[in-house]
Amino acid sequence: MLIKKKALVIGLSGLLAATFSLSATAKVTLKLSHNNDKTHPVHISMQKFADDVKKQTDGEVIIRIYPNSQLGTQRESMELLQAGSLDMAKSNASELESFEVSYGAFNVPYLFKDTEHYYRVLQDPEVGEKILNSTKGKGFIGLTYYDAGSRSFYAHKPIKTPEDLKGLKVRVQPSPSALEMVRLMGASPTPLAFGELYTALQQGVVDAAENNPTALTLMRHGEVTKFYSEDEHTIIPDVLVIGEKSWAKLTPEQQTIVKKAANDSMMSHKVLWAEMTAQEVQKAKEKMGVEFIKVEKQPFVDAVKPMHDKALQDPAIGAYVKRIDELR
Ligand code: GCU
Repeated sequence: MLIKKKALVIGLSGLLAATFSLSATAKVTLKLSHNNDKTHPVHISMQKFADDVKKQTDGEVIIRIYPNSQLGTQRESMELLQAGSLDMAKSNASELESFEVSYGAFNVPYLFKDTEHYYRVLQDPEVGEKILNSTKGKGFIGLTYYDAGSRSFYAHKPIKTPEDLKGLKVRVQPSPSALEMVRLMGASPTPLAFGELYTALQQGVVDAAENNPTALTLMRHGEVTKFYSEDEHTIIPDVLVIGEKSWAKLTPEQQTIVKKAANDSMMSHKVLWAEMTAQEVQKAKEKMGVEFIKVEKQPFVDAVKPMHDKALQDPAIGAYVKRIDELR
């Protein structure tokens, strides 16, 4: 009997100790989905962010990154996130326009003067920060932006003027602005998920695409399209978002650490992006035989000017676009 009692006491205290140590080291693991390769600069910057968060929370917040659309396309990831089945995702302001109209402010062609103007806008409390917070109550919030460079057309033939786009089927991100832009330039837009584009280009489902030059090497699009025409029509940031349910799992201290680490990774990414894109351009030229073509931008600018005019009048994004113009 005595032995039984003792065993019970030992058992109970063991249970208590286990419960205690469990709560003392309670970990939150957050799954982050994205559609780029592990070697992509945005992946590397998000890994730095995850490492910083782990270190600064003493291992209490772990961010596990799933690259290459393993957990779904950007759209599917956003839907999972809103449903509370996924914690974090890296999307793009173009794709996010369908989830929150404010992100459309970034999708107006020829909006940014240069990289410095772009970063002023991303860090501006009235634009960058406000847009990140604009989805509170819609299931997710934005944490930070990652430079995704400027986007230009690439195809099996050089595109030197909007005339060259006539009759081409151009893959765009699933975004109303991207569709409108390509239509105004005279081509037929085809929205497709990024991960489906290689095959679509290879099989002629689309004739052209538009992206930053890393798509040529890191997504291997340079194997199937040999001309990259530098018209640089848009500069659209990638966006790191977190589901509101997952955000609520963090203590206020952890939230502060996560937000700051995200912001720090945006700034270190600025340098990394510039270095890595220069390397990828070299690789595309030398290893894949892609020809980079300088184009006269003005005819492209003129073709899409109505979008800028319309955006300024738009009740949802007009104030943002006006402020972006002021920050030039
Ligand atoms: C960029 C961006 C991706 C995006 C892709 C696209 O490369 O980094 O997040 O999905 O454009 O065109 O879909």
